[in-house]
Amino acid sequence: MAVSGRVAVVTGAARGIGAATTMALIAAGWSVLAVDCVADDSALPYPMATEADLDDVVAQGRVLAGDSGRIHRYRADVRDCDALQAAVDEAQRRWGRMDAGVACAGVIAGGVPLWEMPEAQEQAVLDVNLGGVISLARAVIPALLRQPEPRSGRFLAVASAAATSGLPMLAAYCAAKAGVAGLIRALAVELGGTGVTANAVSPGSTDTPILAESARLYDLSGPTAFAAQQPIGRLLDPREIAAALAFLASPAASGITGAVLPVDGGLAL
Ligand SMILES: NC(=O)c1ccc[n+]([C@@H]2O[C@H](COP(=O)([O-])OP(=O)(O)OC[C@H]3O[C@@H](n4cnc5c(N)ncnc54)[C@H](O)[C@@H]3O)[C@@H](O)[C@H]2O)c1
Repeated sequence: MAVSGRVAVVTGAARGIGAATTMALIAAGWSVLAVDCVADDSALPYPMATEADLDDVVAQGRVLAGDSGRIHRYRADVRDCDALQAAVDEAQRRWGRMDAGVACAGVIAGGVPLWEMPEAQEQAVLDVNLGGVISLARAVIPALLRQPEPRSGRFLAVASAAATSGLPMLAAYCAAKAGVAGLIRALAVELGGTGVTANAVSPGSTDTPILAESARLYDLSGPTAFAAQQPIGRLLDPREIAAALAFLASPAASGITGAVLPVDGGLAL
């Protein structure tokens, strides 16, 4: 599935699913602008990725690419539309084209019923998980549409099994992720006939810091406690989510749009 010469902006790229997606795209020949806020959020009680995490991803990407020019870091908060626009502009300036925006940045909070959740946490969950995806769409889709025909641009987002399940104590997260699924379906229709597609992947429980925070919110001993809920009987590896995103990003996925693809080990069954 090597597709050299394509260019992507990936948010949430400093760790977890975003980092794995960055690596999968680099392995497939893409150039990637790896975007992350790399700063903690005072509203949220768990750490975001660090500058060092993002530097590690870039260093690993350079080794994988064998070409230091195919991956660069970019610090931006997905709640800042201007910063995302600047990231898209930077990728185009570096590599001269734009083929995919991949919205992986996300946060989790809850652990109490919605009406007891601090408003600042609710706002962060909605603004990053839904607002951040909308902002990336606004920034990147015009660039995808500026590519000459025949186009094969891709807008991709990470939803969640929470988009279709009522998970107690995670109501704002469920609302944001259901919003992402709705957004993707509507964008797919709006983009009809352009050659640009919009799709999402819905991961099940995947071994990343967000899952560790989910375990803490549910008072579980640790993230592996979620494994039993998935028919495959284990947690997903971030690379398994990344593989699906990399396929959807590829020209080979031209027939798929508006899909919200479960990569959840059967969790939703
Ligand atoms: N891990 C799971 O079990 C699971 C399941 C379903 C969906 N997801 C979704 O997958 C996506 C990736 O999460 P993950 O599991 O890799 O978690 P993670 O915490 O490892 O990664 C999230 C990344 O997003 C970055 N980020 C957070 N807020 C940001 C902001 N405002 N601006 C820019 N970057 C920001 C963080 O610094 C971090 O690098 C999220 O959208 C999450 O909701 C994860």
